[in-house]
Amino acid sequence: MDIEKYKQRFDQTIKSKGLSKSDLEELKIEYLGRKGIIRQLFSTLAELSSLDKKKYGPKINEFKNYVQNTIADIESKLEQNSKTFFDPTLPKLSFKKGSLHPITYAVEEISSIFSKIGFVRMSYNEVEWEYFSFSALNIPPDHPARDDVETFFIDYPKDKKLGHLLLSPHTSSGQVQEMLRLKQPPIRMINIAKCYRPNWDTTHTPMFHQFEGLCIDKGINITHLKGTIEYFVKHYFGQNRKIRLRPYDFRFTEPSFEIDISCAVCSGSGVYNGSNCRVCKSGWLELGGSGMVHPFVLRSGKIDPDVYSGWAFGFGVERVFLMREGLQVDDLRVFYSGDLRFLSEF
Ligand code: PHE
Repeated sequence: MDIEKYKQRFDQTIKSKGLSKSDLEELKIEYLGRKGIIRQLFSTLAELSSLDKKKYGPKINEFKNYVQNTIADIESKLEQNSKTFFDPTLPKLSFKKGSLHPITYAVEEISSIFSKIGFVRMSYNEVEWEYFSFSALNIPPDHPARDDVETFFIDYPKDKKLGHLLLSPHTSSGQVQEMLRLKQPPIRMINIAKCYRPNWDTTHTPMFHQFEGLCIDKGINITHLKGTIEYFVKHYFGQNRKIRLRPYDFRFTEPSFEIDISCAVCSGSGVYNGSNCRVCKSGWLELGGSGMVHPFVLRSGKIDPDVYSGWAFGFGVERVFLMREGLQVDDLRVFYSGDLRFLSEF
């Protein structure tokens, strides 16, 4: 019986090299398999005398246990190592980094600029009553903005006082609601919300965003309006940009102004490289509307226009974003197209 010889051979193999999982599988077949060494040793027992059987039987069993235990030991060590092994030289798994929508970034930035000068961020309703979007703002019943070509009306029973339900066509719908909410000035609101108008062309999407400033207190005048917009423009667009106010007409402000910002390309001169600036044509770009809150609107908000005065402005978020980035996007609808080639640029 060559048990001792096999044991030595087995021990040598175990010691000789770092055994892998597949080496161990081979060893198992060689020693413990159906045609393996241990089976062969058992089968030679049959030819031995009963005295030898008693002598070698237990020895073969002992060898079999030894082989089994030794292999199991090594296996469990390998298992442990593979759990804790960390290879710092492997290249990292790469994930595509996502980002927020560019307009979401713009909204965050605008609200943080205004929060630094004490303006409270609000978002008034997207589904709104006709009263807050028009009537409370001194917009008469026959005004063209109330036409369903200009505004999305919702098919819902009309309320006696509040009129129809509609999709808010501008953030000005929040003005009177903010007055009623706070009950008493001072009011400093920056209302940033989605607005809706039935337009769909290269410069309009039916859903867009506006941000509306509203400031009401005792002794508020146009210089405060101008100063606040200048502060915003310098922080959002850059220190060397200028603004100008142009007389305009809104029903809910009196006097009313359109606000322009000096063009960054031609620095407000209207001339670039010896010819007319192609971005602005005149040196100025239109930001949006503004004015001193009309006494009618203050009264709608239960504020006494003989004691308090205020101003409001409303600008488009998509518009200021494109103006700042200097992007001549030839189709504004790309913002809401879900096209990642455009969206992942920001
Ligand atoms: N609501 C006006 C618009 O959508 C903008 C505006 C806001 C004008 C506040 C004056 C005051 O065009």
